[in-house]
Amino acid sequence: MVLPASPQAGPPSWLLKLAAALTGAILAAFVAVHMVGNIKAYVGSEHFNDYAHWLRVAGEPLLPEMGLLWAFRVVLLISIIIHIAATLALTFRSRSARGPYRARGLRAESWVSRTMLITGIALLGFIIIHILDLTTGHLNGAFQAPTHTSSFAYENLIASFSRPLFSLLYLVAMGALAVHLIHGLWLLATDFAVTGPRTRRVWKVIAYAAGIVIAFVNMSVPLAVLTGVLS
Ligand code: HEM
Repeated sequence: MVLPASPQAGPPSWLLKLAAALTGAILAAFVAVHMVGNIKAYVGSEHFNDYAHWLRVAGEPLLPEMGLLWAFRVVLLISIIIHIAATLALTFRSRSARGPYRARGLRAESWVSRTMLITGIALLGFIIIHILDLTTGHLNGAFQAPTHTSSFAYENLIASFSRPLFSLLYLVAMGALAVHLIHGLWLLATDFAVTGPRTRRVWKVIAYAAGIVIAFVNMSVPLAVLTGVLS
């Protein structure tokens, strides 16, 4: 007998939730560390370029040039794929479980999941543009590729943000990042079964603080280039 495809086919929901939560935590840790790296732009071009060069040679001579960087890239890529697959599967599963009938009073929850979907799609688009802009240089006419001995990440950054349209794009993307991080970190509290009202309050403050600080520090970089503070 052939059974009809069930919306519950595939991994159990608890496993999808765990996968979404763990990969979300990895990606949040990455944006926090990346923000600290971005602050180095204020220390000076040499410092920023040295840091970008170090990312390429870290782990040498034990690892080949860019070995550690590629290991991080693979972990990030796998995390992004699992995060998107798990969160989309959970969204479709909860929608099909609800059926065609809509109970009143569920707006708040559906608003959060819609917001996460929209900001998540925006961030995916941003990451693709961002890599084509500052890593491969396809979207950056003045891009200078790194060599074995030096990196030009600072010059590439200035060239990119000197274009108001690109700066605006980064500012909008950081708005999406703030919203996604705040809600995502807050949802983590539920995923990791944080139930005490006091701990939940503290977690909420941490979620808001992390989202706002990371987004605003990042936003300051294109704004600093546009206003001539960084040049
Ligand atoms: C205004 C904010 C940001 C600035 C100024 C910035 C700056 C940079 C720079 C300069 C690079 C190239 C580094 C190099 O040449 O080695 C880079 C790479 C990258 N950034 Fe950002 N970034 C920002 C926001 C973000 C955000 C929010 C994300 C993630 C959501 C992100 C993800 C990445 C990734 C995945 C790479 C590629 C790393 C690699 O494989 O080489 N960035 N960023």
